[in-house]
Amino acid sequence: VLLIQLQPDRGPLHRQIYAELRERVLDGRLAPGERLPSTRLLANLLSVGRNTVLEAFEMLLAEGYLVARQGSGTYVTDSLPDASPWHGAEPPPLGPSPPLGLSAWAERALSSRAYRPALPPPEAQLTVHFRNGLLPEAPFPWPIWERLARLRLGYPRGADFQYGQPLGLPELREAIATYVRRARGVRCTAQQVMVTSGSQGVLDFTTRTLVNAGQAVALEDPGYPGASRAFAAGGARLVPVPVDEHGLQPEALPPEARLLYLTPSHQYPTGGVLPIARRLAVLEWARRTGAWVLEDDYDSEYRYAGRPLAAMQGLAPERVIYGGTLSKALLPGFRLGFLIAPPELTEVLAEIRYAVDRQPPSLDQQLAADFLREGHFDRHLRRMRLIHAERRRVLLEALARHLPGWSWRDSGAGLHLYVRLPDEVREVEVIQRAAAIGIGLYGASQYYLQPEQAPPGLVLGYAHLTPDLIQQQVARLAAALAAPASAHERRASAALPDPGTDPALRSG
Ligand SMILES: Cc1ncc(COP(=O)(O)O)c(C=O)c1O
Repeated sequence: VLLIQLQPDRGPLHRQIYAELRERVLDGRLAPGERLPSTRLLANLLSVGRNTVLEAFEMLLAEGYLVARQGSGTYVTDSLPDASPWHGAEPPPLGPSPPLGLSAWAERALSSRAYRPALPPPEAQLTVHFRNGLLPEAPFPWPIWERLARLRLGYPRGADFQYGQPLGLPELREAIATYVRRARGVRCTAQQVMVTSGSQGVLDFTTRTLVNAGQAVALEDPGYPGASRAFAAGGARLVPVPVDEHGLQPEALPPEARLLYLTPSHQYPTGGVLPIARRLAVLEWARRTGAWVLEDDYDSEYRYAGRPLAAMQGLAPERVIYGGTLSKALLPGFRLGFLIAPPELTEVLAEIRYAVDRQPPSLDQQLAADFLREGHFDRHLRRMRLIHAERRRVLLEALARHLPGWSWRDSGAGLHLYVRLPDEVREVEVIQRAAAIGIGLYGASQYYLQPEQAPPGLVLGYAHLTPDLIQQQVARLAAALAAPASAHERRASAALPDPGTDPALRSG
């Protein structure tokens, strides 16, 4: 049993001895309680130095495969340690798994991948992305977050890390309610607040709770792909409602729908701010048809000019579900958002959450609550508004100077800009030519439910780029687009598929 075949090409000898002995313990060739020969004898047997065997024994002792008894030697343990049989090394290759037999939900969620912007070619070597949703990490007040974390993790900790409330930590719900009442005119108490995993959590829980497969969900077109994905995964029939420069057009609302999703403060992606008359028309439609309204107030913190309109929820708190996120005010990786609903609905959400993820993580909630309550959130936002307003100004100036054929409406808000390309320009071609010089651009057509009928456009995320970089890259882009296409590019462009029809451009 102990004649171990050592091989020069299989790593250090003590590791080989360790692994071989461990395997023998695990498969029972070395029985529980069995005494091992002395290290000296084993070293002779294997023709290695005694230290090599000692090292292997020490590892096995430390991990509990062997036990040493004073004065009487080394034995195989009676109780095997609870370790994975391959001990963290590369696991053995898996055999074939049974047929997946995906659920209808999973099938629908997979098909909903179609709702994503047209992307740069996957093979492109991009050095800069005008990608929406990215935020700069440097200005985040990390030292404050770190201090708050130390306070929360230090002693005494209390019972804060046991199971908590499914709707979220009460102090965070209170802080959120206070904030949205003050900053957004939302009418709610803390009891109506549910802490979620970002806006996506709001969309997911709303769909699960209120929408049956086959029911109509009306949504802005173009609109937020994250919303289309959640509704499509739930089996909803997506009913597009067209959008103009002011946002959703209420006269085009369908005769009935279970739910309407919209972004009234800053239409995503086109940027319109829904005027009050339209808000009232939407709510009138909802009352008439009995539809729920889901208001996604995703970036309302960032309004650089003019007074923001309060949230729609304040006009009809009994019918509007308000979705908010900290993805833009903090960073998207924090995965914190919130849903505010009438109390009857929040009570249901509290129950059904036990079946989903039970509750949000405690520490994240504690830190967010402290951050909001102690005023760091407001200070951080004031700073970020200045930073983003400057970036936006620089972007608009650079575009006006270098790309006069492109057009946009400045909503004076948000962290992205929707630009219309001239009608004769092909969106995929612009994306491709930008990718050729390392610039990532993202097409707007895929935000439409029927991309092939969309006008050519781009959604430019700039929040994570410094003003200098924005200036520089817009100038480079303009120069590249102005240069006559090379013969190679012309050939490549002629072969370009349309983003509306080519699945490879939607994924990747
Ligand atoms: C319309 C809209 N809603 C929500 C979000 C944020 O989603 P989450 O909170 O899930 O990160 C975004 C991000 O770009 C968005 O554009």
